[in-house]
Amino acid sequence: MATGTSLSHVFPLGSRLNERGRLEVGGCDTIELAREFGTPAYVVAEEDLHARARAFAQAGEQAGHEDFHVVFASKAFPCTAVLEVFAREGLWCDVASGGELHLALQAGYAPERIVMHGNAKSAAELRMALDARVGLIVVDNFDEIDRLERLSEKAQDVLIRVTPDVRGETHEKISTGQADSKFGFSMADAPAAIERIGQIDGLALKGLHAHIGSQLLDLAPFRREVAELAKLGSETHPPGGFSIYDLGGGLGVAYTETQPRPPAIDEYVGTLVRAAQEHGMGLPGRRLLIEPGRALVANAGVTLYTVESVKRNVSTWVGCDGGMSDNLRPMLYGASYEAHVADRFGGATPCVLAGKHCESGDVIVRDALLDDPRPGDVIVTPATGAYGFAMASNYNGVPRPPVVFCRDGEARVVVRRESFEDLTARDVR
Ligand code: LLP
Repeated sequence: MATGTSLSHVFPLGSRLNERGRLEVGGCDTIELAREFGTPAYVVAEEDLHARARAFAQAGEQAGHEDFHVVFASKAFPCTAVLEVFAREGLWCDVASGGELHLALQAGYAPERIVMHGNAKSAAELRMALDARVGLIVVDNFDEIDRLERLSEKAQDVLIRVTPDVRGETHEKISTGQADSKFGFSMADAPAAIERIGQIDGLALKGLHAHIGSQLLDLAPFRREVAELAKLGSETHPPGGFSIYDLGGGLGVAYTETQPRPPAIDEYVGTLVRAAQEHGMGLPGRRLLIEPGRALVANAGVTLYTVESVKRNVSTWVGCDGGMSDNLRPMLYGASYEAHVADRFGGATPCVLAGKHCESGDVIVRDALLDDPRPGDVIVTPATGAYGFAMASNYNGVPRPPVVFCRDGEARVVVRRESFEDLTARDVR
């Protein structure tokens, strides 16, 4: 592979192989990053986050919808520094728990730009959202309506989440739009939910929400989702007549160079806006929200590991210093990633890149092609910005990695590495 050139679309924007043949992210040499900050480490190109946030906002403007907002699904990368970037870019924030609400408020989101989700919100979480005066609570079920009726004193704006019976093609664990789902009201129950909320003084029903699934590469299911939402109404609210429609997130990303490329951000946003307009949701005074998570952060991040061992047991097994504790996605969803030696791209040795955990399933990349990997080599896996940090654990007492932001050749730690002391910090003796 040529050096000094930019890399494939799975790497953060602006990544390149420098004159020494080493991967650079945000202008920083990844071998030097590994030396300075240790491995494993989540490395994020800060400019990439800004660029994707702007791409979403511009796509909304281009699509010509007056009142269109991008709501970052914070679950994808619930890290204060990431949340701050998107707050500064003017995005809104989707939170799915009291903890995520805490993070969003700490990161500086105006409460009215926060959207609170959850299929099993506790009374404490609802009270927290009401006290913070969040912009929208997305009501998921009748029990939650009862709970909100008891708790809400001032009129709280709410949306109703529905499960529109639309199935996109994705892993079953992250498909949410099908009828048999734990999320939202069925199409059949939604009118009763609309009526019921209408009777409660403390709640102001503003509109509908749906999220059909995640890592979707085809736009057709999104159009079907909009069509289903447009059918919903009640005696008090005519179908298509709500003032807010929140279409959820779900745009997929490319994890490897050979996977099908996802639709571009402007194509995705344009498709949703056009579908909404076709169904009368694009009228003046109507607000449209979308909630991308993965598509804002996945490709902004890479993970750096160090090789600890190389052995031949039928396959060539490359054991590195991280694994399922920093990236659970291969194990949970069979997700594919690429791996490269950070200063010797373009390898041809078939290897299994394995983690350090005590399970055979702890494999990061089953079919890696590495250039003669050796202990001490730094390995990079691109496209790890979404749901890696988010789902990290301390399995086997492994401290969670730091997050390092890189920009214009400057690197700064925005989340420090966990220490062994952190592992015992909550003990009560
Ligand atoms: N809105 C709602 C209500 C959601 O539940 C989700 C994701 C999103 C937005 C953002 O979806 P995205 O744009 O990121 O696809 N841990 C899984 C992903 C779970 C997604 C959960 N909900 C993974 O690693 O693939």
